[in-house]
Amino acid sequence: MDLPKQITFKEVGPRDGLQNESRFVPTEKKVEWIDLLSQTGVSYIEVSSFVHPKWIPALADAEEVFNQIKRNQDVTYAALVPNIKGAERALKVDADEFAVFMSASETHNQKNINKSITETYDVLKEVVNEASSSNKKTRGYVSTVFGCPYDGHIAIDEVKKVCDQLLSMGIYEISLGDTIGIGNPKQVKSVMTELHKEFGIGKFALHFHDTRGMALANALAGLQAGVTIYDGSIGGLGGCPYAKGASGNVASEDLLFMLHEMGMNSEIDVHKLLKAASYIEGVFGETLPSHQLKLFEGG
Ligand code: HMG
Ligand code: MG
Repeated sequence: MDLPKQITFKEVGPRDGLQNESRFVPTEKKVEWIDLLSQTGVSYIEVSSFVHPKWIPALADAEEVFNQIKRNQDVTYAALVPNIKGAERALKVDADEFAVFMSASETHNQKNINKSITETYDVLKEVVNEASSSNKKTRGYVSTVFGCPYDGHIAIDEVKKVCDQLLSMGIYEISLGDTIGIGNPKQVKSVMTELHKEFGIGKFALHFHDTRGMALANALAGLQAGVTIYDGSIGGLGGCPYAKGASGNVASEDLLFMLHEMGMNSEIDVHKLLKAASYIEGVFGETLPSHQLKLFEGG
């Protein structure tokens, strides 16, 4: 099997993991959790989201969280940003990097950010320009790449159109979201082959939700297709509130266990990551989906 030697892992738990939660995790607990994550060797943490707090009340304390975390200089502390208002908020607390987002499908885009796909481009371009005028980079998410809860199967040409627009704005990397965990390994291979042909290798990350237990199989297909950047959420927390039935991301520790066992390097200490996962599990007081976490606690 031809696999990459080195992979880059991006932890999105504090944002994607918490955004769907009806229970509000107190700010000081979020901060303590992120501080634990900062000591694991992870190089990127998506700390919170500067969306409208009425839409995502669980992350209404984004400013406080950014202001209170202890920053490790080896970690990029990123923020999800939907528009210029979000960008201004993120700049005020000096988020290191922005992540913008939109969908490959019209209906999910509309429900998630209240705009058509075409209307969204100008909104995101403004964010990218604002970031770059402060010497900050912007990452981009494309949601519903592998299927939409409203529009069903998404043609690869629709995905390409959105990626083309995002890359031409100056976004440095696109994270392809399987928002509702409906993709399969054969599809991942074929989507990545098409996108690599069109845009080259190295521009894409994969962001798998594990709704149907397919995330690890899909990650393996991504690796075989040459993708070296993966997102995950410790404990397997999370989901998109505007995608019915969406559950958490692949658990970071399960993904990293697989990658490390197959000889790939990530620079991340999974034992320390498990301590951070165990911490947030304790805050919720219920078992999280992660497999490694169950073994860690049992052992
Ligand atoms: P809107 O209502 O269309 O916004 O929402 P608007 O521009 O019309 O403004 C309405 C009001 O909201 C105004 O206030 C604005 O100032 C205010 P008013 O004048 O009425 O008092 N406003 C804001 N306030 C604070 N922060 C802001 C902001 N923007 C406007 N940033 C908006 C548009 C994008 C804000 C809204 O739709 C929203 O917040 N959506 C959030 C959706 C979301 O967070 N979804 C989950 C994240 S995406 C995801 O999970 C997928 C991903 O993980 C990848 C994958 O898995 O596929 C990334
Ligand atoms: Mg997501």
